[in-house]
Amino acid sequence: MNVLTLLGSARKKGNTATVLGWVEDALTNLGHEVIRVNLHGRKLNGCMACNQCKQVSDAPGCVQKDDIPEILAQMVAADLIVFASPLYFWGVSAQLKAVIDRTYSLYTRYHETDHASLLEGCREAFLVTGAGGWDNNAEGAFTAFKRMQNPHKTQYTGELFIGNCTTPADMTMSMKEKALAFARRIIA
Ligand SMILES: Cc1cc2nc3c(=O)[nH]c(=O)nc-3n(C[C@H](O)[C@H](O)[C@H](O)COP(=O)(O)O)c2cc1C
Repeated sequence: MNVLTLLGSARKKGNTATVLGWVEDALTNLGHEVIRVNLHGRKLNGCMACNQCKQVSDAPGCVQKDDIPEILAQMVAADLIVFASPLYFWGVSAQLKAVIDRTYSLYTRYHETDHASLLEGCREAFLVTGAGGWDNNAEGAFTAFKRMQNPHKTQYTGELFIGNCTTPADMTMSMKEKALAFARRIIA
């Protein structure tokens, strides 16, 4: 399987990168091809809601000239996309949100009978780290992510929340085991 991972954290050696690294190593060891995109530092504009993308159905139709069209093309080419982010104010980081909003350009005629998506059939999985626990904290991000599967026409294959994070050095074996189980789940 061709796996694309999107790291939404600015900290390349932070909590999210550590957990995502465990997942990537597990997927690689299982024989999958894994490419990571570190979103921080890339030029990531927000969606302009210009709707010009809706005129194009056979390619990512976004007209903006930043780094996101290349990332969208990588998403379209993948069999599985793992979206990874620290929890920021109960949602995902701005870097990842910019990419998610620009996936608006990957589908046409949502809610119509001829709704089409360039991501159709692809798997999507979601990995989030946070300083707090799950309750009153992470559930909104997961609800939004699940709903995104409808316009994307994708298969939601798994979610992982690693809460009570402090530093990567203090991450526990139990956190790593959860990450490895998540890796196995999302390719099953
Ligand atoms: C701007 C900001 C907002 C945050 N909001 C939350 C939050 O809503 N819930 C939570 O549990 N942790 C929150 N945190 C903590 C981070 O999600 C947590 O430390 C995460 O593991 C950091 O990941 P990183 O090392 O990849 O940056 C926030 C941190 C920052 C900097």
